[in-house]
Amino acid sequence: GVDPRLQAISAAIRVVPHFPKPGIMFNDITTLLLHPKVFKDVVEIFVDRYRDMEISAVAGIEARGFIFGPSIALAIGAKFIPLRKPKKLPGEVFSEAYELEYGTDCLEMHVGAVHPGERVLVIDDLVATGGTLCAAIRLLGPMQTEWKACLYTRRVPSLKLHNQVNLRRYSLL
Ligand code: PRP
Repeated sequence: GVDPRLQAISAAIRVVPHFPKPGIMFNDITTLLLHPKVFKDVVEIFVDRYRDMEISAVAGIEARGFIFGPSIALAIGAKFIPLRKPKKLPGEVFSEAYELEYGTDCLEMHVGAVHPGERVLVIDDLVATGGTLCAAIRLLGPMQTEWKACLYTRRVPSLKLHNQVNLRRYSLL
């Protein structure tokens, strides 16, 4: 059967039409964070799903992957790697540009944060076009085995990642 926690999680995400631009339906997870039980359930469901997969690193995508990622990393005994927007990291970085539905952007990661062959879990709140997630995967490099997790996949049921796995499988909702 369906996990009853998922209904509460879904109901706690506020949908804001026409933000930040006309035509965009913004999924606002800040309302979910105001409910500690629901917030905890999100982390616990991800932890249960990924704890026995020998994942050594959780990569969180700025900014909302920083809200969920560290709790999951600590619970599964993995390191946390922030994938940041441009010019925020002080050390030597790898960069990957991508198209967003409202503009273009870039993700950066410190050189040396992840090593060849590590199993990395990529965390974000939602996937819309998939551009951000694909940039994160390019950033982590071809040597890593990645899993992806997000709260919500909005409209990319047919998006295939490089390993031919349907993204919807990784979505909580
Ligand atoms: C949102 C969201 C994802 C991304 C999904 O972040 O948190 O990271 O967009 O979009 P995509 O699948 O079309 O690439 P946003 O770019 O608004 O950044 P922010 O969290 O720093 O505000």
